[in-house]
Amino acid sequence: MLSTREMENEIIKVSRSATLPNMNDLHGKRIVLGLTGGIACFKAAELCRSLVKAGAKVQVVMTEAAAQFITPVTMQALSGQPVYTSQWDSREGNNMAHINLSREADALLIAPASADFMAKLIHGKADELLSLMCLARPLQTVPLILAPAMNREMWAHPATQRNVAQLKADGAHVLGVGQGDQACGETGDGRMLEAEEIVDALEAFWTPKLLSGQHVLITAGPTYEAIDPVRGITNLSSGKMGFAIARAAQHAGAEVTLVAGPVSLPTPRDVKRLNVRSALQMHEAVQAVAANATVFIAAAAVADWRPANSAEQKIKKDGSGDTPALSFVENPDILAMVAQSARAQKGDLFCVGFAAESHDLLAHSTAKRARKGVPLLVGNIGPSTFGQDDNALLLVDAQGAKELPRDTKIRLAHQLIQDIASRLSKH
Ligand code: CTP
Repeated sequence: MLSTREMENEIIKVSRSATLPNMNDLHGKRIVLGLTGGIACFKAAELCRSLVKAGAKVQVVMTEAAAQFITPVTMQALSGQPVYTSQWDSREGNNMAHINLSREADALLIAPASADFMAKLIHGKADELLSLMCLARPLQTVPLILAPAMNREMWAHPATQRNVAQLKADGAHVLGVGQGDQACGETGDGRMLEAEEIVDALEAFWTPKLLSGQHVLITAGPTYEAIDPVRGITNLSSGKMGFAIARAAQHAGAEVTLVAGPVSLPTPRDVKRLNVRSALQMHEAVQAVAANATVFIAAAAVADWRPANSAEQKIKKDGSGDTPALSFVENPDILAMVAQSARAQKGDLFCVGFAAESHDLLAHSTAKRARKGVPLLVGNIGPSTFGQDDNALLLVDAQGAKELPRDTKIRLAHQLIQDIASRLSKH
C-alpha cells in the first residue's frame, strides 16, 4: 500500500520516456489499403503514413487506374512493403495473392473507393486483384471498409447512393464523405475524408461498444469571465482531457454532447458540441442537456468566481496610478447542482467529477468527492498536465483510490470510459 505522499509522487512524476502501452490505437493491426482510381489517391499517401504512425502494418494494393494517379513506388516507400498491383504477381509462391493477402488482414480498407469500384463490388465482379480480394475475403472475420471519393454529382447520383446502400446491406462499412472544394473545381459532397478522420473511424471501429445506448454529457476546457469587453479571467485548462474523453465515449458507442469552454480544439467526429464562454453559460447549457443524459463527466475547469459587474466599455487608466476595484461573486457549482438534482429525482444520471489540484491530491480528491456528492472523482495535478498531451489520473470512489499511471490523454480517456462503463452496470 502506497502512502499518500508516495502515491502523489508517482502521479506527479513525468516519465515521458517510458514505453507507453498501446491501447485503442492501431498497434498490431494488419490493414490492406486498397487504392482505386481517383484524384483522392494523393490523400492515400498521407493516409498510409498516418496508419503506419498509428501502429498498423499496411499492405498496399492498387488498381491499374489508381496507378495513373500515384505511383506504387511512393506507396511502397510510405508503407515499407512492396505494393501489389496484379493478380498475376509471381512473388506469391502459390500465385494466389488474393487469397493470401485477404487471409492475413484484420481489415480491407479501400481509400479512395471510386464510384466505379463500388459498382463493381455490388455485382461481385472480380476482374483484377483488389476486387478479387474483396470478394475472396472471409466475410465474418475480415471487415471491408470503404472511404468513397468522387465528384459531387457522381456521389449524389441515385445509382451511387443505391450502390452504397447495397454495399452496407452486404456487410461493408461505408464511411461518409467530406464536403468542400473538389479537384474538379466544383464544391459539394464527395471528397474523401481526411487521413486523420479515417484513422479515427478505424480506431472507433475496433473499440468495444461499452457505452452503447448511453448519452454522455461532458464539460471541457476553461471558462472566461469578462471584466470588460477586452479583458477577463480564465485559467490554463486546454480542454484536451475533456475532448479526449468525448472522443473515447463516442468510440465506445455513446451519444456524446460536449459543452466546451473557449478552446480551439477540433470537435471529435460525431460529437455534438455546444460552445460556451462563461460559467453561467456552461451551467445553462448543461442544465438543458442533463435531463436526457445518463452520464455526466465534469472535466471543465470552471471559474469559481466572476466579476460582480462586467463593465460595458473598456476600463481605462486615468493616469492617477489607482487600480480598479474589482469585486467578485461566486459562480454556481455546476457539478454539485447537477448531482444534487439527479439524487433528488432518483434518476439514473451517473456523475463524475474532476479535481485539478497542485498538491495533496488524494486528500483533496477524497474531500472533493464527498463535497460534490458524486460516486466517482478523478484527481489530477493541474500544473503538470494543463496543455500537455499526457496526464496521470487518480480515481477516487467510496471504496478508495486507484491510479491510472501517466499515459497519453487519449489512452487515459479510454481507460476512464472502461472504468465508468463497468460502474454503470452496477449503478
Ligand atoms: N465544477 C463545476 N462548477 C464550478 C466549479 C467546479 O462544475 N463552479 C466542477 C469541475 O468541473 C470539476 C469539479 O467541480 O469536475 C472540481 O473542480 P475544481 O475546480 O477542482 O474544484 P472546486 O470545486 O472549484 O474547488 P477548489 O477550487 O476549492 O479546489
